[in-house]
Amino acid sequence: MADALKISPSILSADFSKLGDEVRAIDAAGCDYVHIDVMDGHFVSNLTFGPPVIKNIRPVTEKGFDVHLMINPAQPHLSDYAEAGADIITVHVEADADLDRSLQMIRGLGKKAGVSLNPSTPETAIEHVIDKVDLILVMTVNPGFSGQSFIASQVEKIRRIKAMIGDRSIEIEVDGGINADNVKTVTEAGANVVVAGNAVFSGDDYAAAIGALRDAAG
Ligand code: DX5
Ligand code: ZN
Repeated sequence: MADALKISPSILSADFSKLGDEVRAIDAAGCDYVHIDVMDGHFVSNLTFGPPVIKNIRPVTEKGFDVHLMINPAQPHLSDYAEAGADIITVHVEADADLDRSLQMIRGLGKKAGVSLNPSTPETAIEHVIDKVDLILVMTVNPGFSGQSFIASQVEKIRRIKAMIGDRSIEIEVDGGINADNVKTVTEAGANVVVAGNAVFSGDDYAAAIGALRDAAG
């Protein structure tokens, strides 16, 4: 487990008319990863972007691309996301009848394998793949949109996942409604990667917003 808190701004809240500049700006502002929300209008009602957009922004930063796939099925598309420049590829347990194989495929593509759980999904759903993941993404909103309110009931789930991980080297990422007021509750529970959409992109000073999250996490 990495010690330092990592901030992964979600470009779903960026200005798409100048996406490359937005990615450069969060890089310069000190982000650790770039969180990329891929939605298919099927697993979630919203529809965002796919491999071509990721490929286009890949050259503008060396920061890790943290690709959150909210698509069903994901398996036929994993190699496209790897080729587009993903560093971490996260699939949803609810969207994958063959999770074990998807995770093996991601690692086989030379990428870090992540698994995500919706708020209603208990951590027992990923017990059987715990030795095949590099990252566990705990949703603290129902996936689909940025700017939703943090679901506090997920904090205890983070704590239970932290205990389940034990001494394995697995990151715990939290996604949805995170801001400077609640970030400490999730890092205290065991999260070490924090996604922030609105908390970073809603103001003009991205460095200040990222700094405020780090300060609040303590
Ligand atoms: C929701 C996405 C999140 C979201 C985060 O489905 O996975 O990454 O964009 O945005 P905020 O931080 O505004 O909730
Ligand atoms: Zn996300």
